[in-house]
Amino acid sequence: MMPAFLVTGAAGFIGSHSVEWLLKQGKRVVGVDNLRTGHLENLATARTSPNFEWVLADAGDEVAMRALFKQHHFAGALHLAALVSVPESFDDTALNARLNLVVADNLGRLCVEFGCKRLVFASSAAVYGMAAALPNQESAAPQPQSPYAAAKLAAEVMLLGYAASFGLEALCLRYFNVYGPRQDPASPYSGVLSIFTSRFQRNLPVIIYGDGEQTRDFVSVRDVARANGEALLGADVGSGRYNVSTGRPVSLNQVLTIYREMFAGAPAAQYAEARIGDIRHSLGDPSLLRDMLHFEADIPFGLGLRELALEVSG
Ligand code: UD1
Repeated sequence: MMPAFLVTGAAGFIGSHSVEWLLKQGKRVVGVDNLRTGHLENLATARTSPNFEWVLADAGDEVAMRALFKQHHFAGALHLAALVSVPESFDDTALNARLNLVVADNLGRLCVEFGCKRLVFASSAAVYGMAAALPNQESAAPQPQSPYAAAKLAAEVMLLGYAASFGLEALCLRYFNVYGPRQDPASPYSGVLSIFTSRFQRNLPVIIYGDGEQTRDFVSVRDVARANGEALLGADVGSGRYNVSTGRPVSLNQVLTIYREMFAGAPAAQYAEARIGDIRHSLGDPSLLRDMLHFEADIPFGLGLRELALEVSG
């Protein structure tokens, strides 16, 4: 039987795209999700594949996960299941610690126990904090400024500790601002591009917090899915922490210019006071992942944004 790969958080935004990428490579995938923040509809395409097995389970349910590891002898695991909202990590610190640290630790230990050689872990640019020099390089001392960032960093440390101790291959991918189809626009703290897209499509004004000159390193979910997949499948890739970023800054005012080309009659943007704690500029140095995995994000921002805005509106 062909070896299988485990994907946790499979029904999420990044998870569902990652599953599809792996299936396209002809791999067998077991996708786990508890549907706390994921949506089963995200897996509609994946579920038509005979190489995909859907499992409704909590990645933190050790009994369920142990049974899956025993049954499948996974060739690799992609751990995306998480508490994804930074504000929620302030409101429920215990849940954050469990979902973002304890579950990752459990999975790391299951990988060691069952000989699953490689674990790719969804970390975040949030671990750098706001004071770090730009562009963020993996060698910088992390300065987490939220329970969310702290737990992601702690999970990196645990997994890299298992890598050093037991020979697990642990790749911690620090995603920058991921955007694309299936990102949930429901909360004010959802990704800015999912919010803007949904508002432009409904002909509602968008709100820009601050002067719009803040910049982000926006990376398409399709590139992120490929980074995840290549990190999982690549030969001779070493354990470590890797930025998943483009290295190209885009300001919110530049973002608006692109939307205006697509939605010419849209109402003017409203400018409001900057958010407390908002980062002025965020930018990742993509060179380490390029050197190690020959990975480069290759979807130009304008193209990715057009695809998002036009695809979702049908
Ligand atoms: C992102 C992450 C966050 C992480 C942080 C630091 C997301 C969704 N959030 O926050 O988890 O802690 O990086 O690495 O990826 N904005 C508007 N109008 C809106 C919504 C947002 O102007 O309607 C602005 C924000 O004030 C911010 C920018 O857009 O300046 C981006 O916001 P957002 O998408 O929430 O991401 P980050 O703040 O970068």
